[in-house]
Amino acid sequence: MSAVEIPAGLKELLQGYAVEVLRRKPSDLVEFAVQHFTGILEGQSNDQKTKKLVGKTAHKGVAFETNESNKDDEEDEEEDTVKYTTGKYSRRVSVCAEPYNPDDDEDDDMEPRVMHPKTDVQRRRLQDACRDILLFKTLDQEQFSEVLDAMFEVLVKPQEHIIDQGDDGDNFYVIEKGVYDIFVQKEGVSMCVGKYDNKGSFGELALMYNTPRAATIVATEEGALWGLDRSTFHRLIVKNNAKKRRVYEAFIESVPLLKSLELSERMKIVDVLAARTFKDGECLITQGEEADCFYIVASGEVKIMIKSKTKAGQQDNAEVEVARCSRGQYFGELALVTNKPRAASVYAAGETKCLVIDIQAFERLLGPCMEIMKRNISQYEDQLVALFGSSVDLKH
Ligand code: CMP
Ligand code: CMP
Repeated sequence: MSAVEIPAGLKELLQGYAVEVLRRKPSDLVEFAVQHFTGILEGQSNDQKTKKLVGKTAHKGVAFETNESNKDDEEDEEEDTVKYTTGKYSRRVSVCAEPYNPDDDEDDDMEPRVMHPKTDVQRRRLQDACRDILLFKTLDQEQFSEVLDAMFEVLVKPQEHIIDQGDDGDNFYVIEKGVYDIFVQKEGVSMCVGKYDNKGSFGELALMYNTPRAATIVATEEGALWGLDRSTFHRLIVKNNAKKRRVYEAFIESVPLLKSLELSERMKIVDVLAARTFKDGECLITQGEEADCFYIVASGEVKIMIKSKTKAGQQDNAEVEVARCSRGQYFGELALVTNKPRAASVYAAGETKCLVIDIQAFERLLGPCMEIMKRNISQYEDQLVALFGSSVDLKH
């Protein structure tokens, strides 16, 4: 009997898949296989792209670093207040053949802790700016304090490019003040797709997925940011994301709204979400306020309440319950889709846990679910007609 020759790499490839299946326990093995092997393929093509990018960016005078650190850069980072100029910080060349797996990255634990000394006033300002940053919500007290120690102040001028699409990722940024436009280039045309208005954070994608920067961020006025270096971000945030995936993956896969997304798209939602717990009666959303988040109920229940109308059509202050949402259901999408203030108030009915996604991630990741959400708006309008009699247009 002639021996069958096993192609080189086959065993490792199948073993890699088997290990991921055991680790992540996907519900659909075939879909997971497609995602897993596509990831490897994309990793290989990223490898090629990154090599090209290194050539391109190096041309712009950015100092790249492989293993040895650049002493000048380290000295610059010692300052309390660091002014941002492109290429001032050493950037690592991100060459990856596979999607980044933080569990494999043992070297991260060996890296020295980054410390940027701060005055009490600076630390208080930094704490305020970081209070609502969703990516920090999964950190425990010690990790959060390590993040705060590592962050450094960045003062920016009008028209300054904080990030350029296509560049290698160096830092993650939290906004303390200022307005920042987001530009995304598609087929050679740069489009402004949104803005950050004095709050929020950006620059996480390139660091999480080892990809080139996905957008350009430009300050429209003088502003202040807090930067977090790539290696601290990896060690604390990305490692926590691996845990988050294990905890929320199965639940996110069961959410009806997200069924139409690819598995890899659902995992990206897990990476950016934060879990928040609310006490009985706590207000999550206030009718009439500006919106910045989208919610999915993970456990418990919320009540949707609307200020009733008088016969003359004037708003009365009494609230009427219009609906309830429980595990797997979503709310808080309406204001994000219509670009209007919150149409209702939302309260926890008993202790409730929700998964929260910020507006930028909502727009970036939930595009494919937009049709379902728009269709459901008509149901809200029907509910309101049933309650208040007159017709309501929530969309315009
Ligand atoms: P990163 O790719 O590291 O750098 C650019 C950042 O812009 C990106 O991370 C996100 O944090 C942010 N961003 C905001 N909106 C978008 C968008 N629509 N597409 C891509 N990135 C976006
Ligand atoms: P948003 O307007 O962002 O914040 C309040 C949320 O309540 C709203 O999005 C919907 O997700 C939810 N909601 C549920 N039922 C209704 C309804 N009948 N009218 C308006 N909002 C509703």
